[in-house]
Amino acid sequence: MRRLIRSVSRRVTATDRGAAAAGQAAGVQEDPAEAPLHAGLDVMANPVLLVRAASLRIVYANAAAEASFAVSRKSMREMALPELFGPSEELAGMIESVRTRQFDVRRQDVVLQRALQEPSHAHVVVGVLEATADTVLVEVLPNEQKVRSEREERILDLTSANKELIRNLAHEIKNPLGGIRGAAQLLEFELPERGLREYTQVIIKESDRLQTLVDRLLEPHRHPHIVSELNIHEVLERVRLVVLAEFPNGLEIVRDYDASLPDLRGDKEQLIQAVLNIVHNAAQALADRIAAGDAQIVLRTRVARQVTIAKRLFKLALDLHIIDNGPGIPEDIRERIFYPLVSGKDGGSGLGLTLAQTFVQQHEGLIECESRPGCTDFRILLPLH
Ligand SMILES: Nc1ncnc2c1ncn2[C@@H]1O[C@H](COP(=O)(O)OP(=O)(O)OP(=O)(O)O)[C@@H](O)[C@H]1O
Ligand SMILES: [Mg+2]
Repeated sequence: MRRLIRSVSRRVTATDRGAAAAGQAAGVQEDPAEAPLHAGLDVMANPVLLVRAASLRIVYANAAAEASFAVSRKSMREMALPELFGPSEELAGMIESVRTRQFDVRRQDVVLQRALQEPSHAHVVVGVLEATADTVLVEVLPNEQKVRSEREERILDLTSANKELIRNLAHEIKNPLGGIRGAAQLLEFELPERGLREYTQVIIKESDRLQTLVDRLLEPHRHPHIVSELNIHEVLERVRLVVLAEFPNGLEIVRDYDASLPDLRGDKEQLIQAVLNIVHNAAQALADRIAAGDAQIVLRTRVARQVTIAKRLFKLALDLHIIDNGPGIPEDIRERIFYPLVSGKDGGSGLGLTLAQTFVQQHEGLIECESRPGCTDFRILLPLH
């Protein structure tokens, strides 16, 4: 980047003095003398802007900027930077410290708040153009990959800490539970009045509910991880039949399979359970559309290449999407759905996705989710070794 700024600067030095004067007179007009510089920036893959540091006026935008921000260059040349990216103190501070030559180059992650769009994270590099006092170069690098890998890392840390805690807690609860239930039954036999049985029944029923919960919590530790060659489409077909048996009317499950997918090595029962939990959630969320008869779940399989999962690079992975046209995940729990006991439903135990994630992680894979009303997309990536 520094080398680029230097080489760019030399050309600017030659051309921009005239351009600066012309630019000042003409406001924000692009100067033809800067054409060679612009041609160089135009071939860059990342969005690049040239900005007058004092006024934050954009004087040039390359082709990648036009494509990436979906604003024409002509319009951008009529804008100041905050009009394009929203007011950002961080960005203004970076430009100021480069303008005043505290730094030649500054790079930082910033949040850009573009008009009518969700805030987006980007890695921005601001560089001084040598000998042009007032113009800085702003390069915008998408840092989705960075955000994603940080999020994955956080989830992995959390789930490994959680798993240990859950396992120990579940064992602690499981042991006395049998005793509590047994004692309530004995008490029930001894009760003089039938009416009092109501109370012992509460104890027995609640103990049974807890027992089921604890058994589910311990599920991933109960069975050995049995690995064999398997075809993911067999897994999906099993899930499809099970869910359609429960929701026979009003729900369509569309298969969008890539038949050329190679087999993968994994535990078939675990993968069925993981996918079933996700598809089952989707079907439950679609209750209103099932009633209206236009509920849809799409099962899509593709190959993904060069995928990084938990900092490991895999040449090939299965890219599985489970997409539904339901109302979307309630916003208040969207960030936490993979945590145990987080549920948006009455009577939901909030374990389905925790288990799905545990099973997928046991296959060195990853689950992520994007959701908005009308489209919820769970993505499972599984390495194909
Ligand atoms: N496709 C979806 N559409 C809308 N909301 C969803 C979807 N998938 C999951 N959710 C939300 O995420 C919550 C957590 O799901 P999870 O499967 O972990 O637990 P649960 O379904 O509530 O209970 P359990 O699966 O243990 O019976 C759900 O309660 C639901 O609110
Ligand atoms: Mg569920």
